[in-house]
Amino acid sequence: MKKKAIYASLLLACTVTSLARNPIYLDPDQPIEQRVEDALRRMTVEEKVAMIHAQSKFSSAGVPRLGIPENWMTDGPHGIRAEVLWDEWNEAKWTNDSCIAFPALTALAATWSPDMSALYGKSIGEEARYRNKNVLLGPGVNIYRTPLNGRNFEYMGEDPYLASKMVVPYIREVQKCGIAACVKHFALNNQEVRRENINVKVDDRALHEIYLPAFKAAVQDGGAWAIMGAYNQYKGQHCCHNQYLLNEILKRDWGFDGVVISDWGGVHKTNEAIRNGLDMEFGSWTNGLNWSASNAYANYYLASPYLKMITEGKIDTQELDEKVRRILRLVFRTTMSKNRPYGSFGTMEHALAGRKIAQEGIVLLKNRSSLLPIDISKVKNILVVGENAVKKMTVGGGSSALKTKYEISPLTGIETYARQQVSVRYLSGYTSVSSMNQKENIGEQLREEAVSAAKEADIVLFIGGLNKNNGQDCEGHDRTSLGLPYGQDTLISQLTAANPNTVVVIISGNAVAMPWVNNVPSIVEAWYCGTETGNALASVLFGEVNPSGKLPFTFPVLIDDNAASALGGYPGNKTDVEYKEGIFVGYRWADRQKNTKPLFPFGHGLSYTNFQYSKAIADKSVMHVNDTINVTVKVKNTGKREGQEVVQLYIRDNESSLPRPFKELKGFKKISLSPGEEKTVVFPVTLDALSFYDDQKHMWVAEPGRFEALIGSSSMDIRGRFAFELK
Ligand code: BGC
Repeated sequence: MKKKAIYASLLLACTVTSLARNPIYLDPDQPIEQRVEDALRRMTVEEKVAMIHAQSKFSSAGVPRLGIPENWMTDGPHGIRAEVLWDEWNEAKWTNDSCIAFPALTALAATWSPDMSALYGKSIGEEARYRNKNVLLGPGVNIYRTPLNGRNFEYMGEDPYLASKMVVPYIREVQKCGIAACVKHFALNNQEVRRENINVKVDDRALHEIYLPAFKAAVQDGGAWAIMGAYNQYKGQHCCHNQYLLNEILKRDWGFDGVVISDWGGVHKTNEAIRNGLDMEFGSWTNGLNWSASNAYANYYLASPYLKMITEGKIDTQELDEKVRRILRLVFRTTMSKNRPYGSFGTMEHALAGRKIAQEGIVLLKNRSSLLPIDISKVKNILVVGENAVKKMTVGGGSSALKTKYEISPLTGIETYARQQVSVRYLSGYTSVSSMNQKENIGEQLREEAVSAAKEADIVLFIGGLNKNNGQDCEGHDRTSLGLPYGQDTLISQLTAANPNTVVVIISGNAVAMPWVNNVPSIVEAWYCGTETGNALASVLFGEVNPSGKLPFTFPVLIDDNAASALGGYPGNKTDVEYKEGIFVGYRWADRQKNTKPLFPFGHGLSYTNFQYSKAIADKSVMHVNDTINVTVKVKNTGKREGQEVVQLYIRDNESSLPRPFKELKGFKKISLSPGEEKTVVFPVTLDALSFYDDQKHMWVAEPGRFEALIGSSSMDIRGRFAFELK
């Protein structure tokens, strides 16, 4: 009996010890919130403070005593950035960190395909996972307000609906890999000029209708686990610690339960950083070793200064605990989740995913006399002109720069497709190297050489545009004009005069002016497409792939056709920038102009085949509050080859108490059709699609009255309309 009692108490002691050895927070089968509270209870104040700010350029501390791992961030958003030194931006020169570069987000947006976005998220998520990161600094969804913004290539265009639909699958797939997507830059970061301090003045309607929806979708539909504050200010407060944006909108109204991470160097005040919704501080001093104080990380706004306030009893730990809760949640969702897959890196599968996305994103802007696709049986020699045919575009551009496993240039892609049958000659025609341009007449010499060679060619492929240098598509600066740099306009005009069979391929993440547009028969917007750039572009030029991309933003003829410039609302003065155009951004502005038309409108993109739209019909013409109207259109491929079309639904409000855009995108569907095939596309229209943000009532409102559903192949190519009434 006695023995039995001894055994029983021994057993109990063992159970207690093993329970103590397996606390709740370490048990992946326990609910996350219980794990969070358990871990939080065990942490000292010092451990908590250590967790809420950087310990290196891209990492923050875990809790070594408790076995809770560090958090490791990576840029983002187009591929996994090379490792940098612990305290510096310089590359660490690892030899095993060369990634697959995916197309820039403008190219992804131009696919108008949520499937492509899912493929993108899955692929980049796997790359991040293999590299042992748990936060991907991307995707970016700042709205394309001006074509001069140097970072537009990192974002998803000018329309809140398109950006919302495209960002969600990316986030979901990244997070399935056990990596948090950190959606950036929240919010109103629409220019690089004075980005660290500029205070954005924007009305509430534009804020809610234009600038916030993609973030809201990222949080509520995508379930994003992290969000990055922006550098700029709003209502006179930096966005990284902004009471209104972070505490009220993001956390209270949208119910965001993830981590708010500062942009690198975006934190400015301890008090605001504590109270206004920031959870993690990064990059406050760019060089933690010898710049600023001796150990800069300890001096972060959310490090020693905060700890001191707590130990001196000036503040309690309520905010601290809330920040740590969110960070622990992140850890349990990622590194300490039992469902975390292992990932893969630099694979052929990822490269092919990138190629596929690029092929669907490249936009055929113009194709007079069907110069494209190139028929190699009819062409003997091709002249390729332009620096972008050979220039690496994954290098430069700022924080999105990548070290890639390889990058197929457009020229290599063209040579591969031309095979031995066609001779391909290359001449640069111009140079972006300023030291070269300073040499006497070098630009002229390069141009003359190219123009005279053009006369001998069967076809000229000009491949130019912008690049990732400062002042072009590059973080930290904006462009200074809409025009192409390095004398490309003159070169293009002379090439087309010398050879009418000239195709212009623009590689950029932004709209550019095209004063030569009427003289060039075929124009392609080819974006920055990453590792597989050349193969993707050549497959479209030679017709292996039928182009199906559509513009995610308007190309204005002149910079003053853009609302921000037209109204003097860009780039602002030393302190403020006023978004004078309000909700009339992009095509919403272009639609109001009676005397000007865009160079190429939002939603535009051609195919090598033709699509015929039937009349638009719907199942009812009177809608009540909880109804859905199903608007239907049939689309037929009337050409000779298979192709994809993006059918677009815009809603027009014909009677409204407040000014509304002429029309707004509220649905789209990418369909694939064989020659002669017809498909029916149905767009369910609910109250959401009819609503606007009422800045008096501070809520979304749909007013009774007359509406129209417009079905189009672009925002300016409306093929059918259906009128209905909301009662
Ligand atoms: C950029 C962020 C980026 C961060 C880290 C900042 O300059 O604005 O987008 O993620 O640097 O590289």
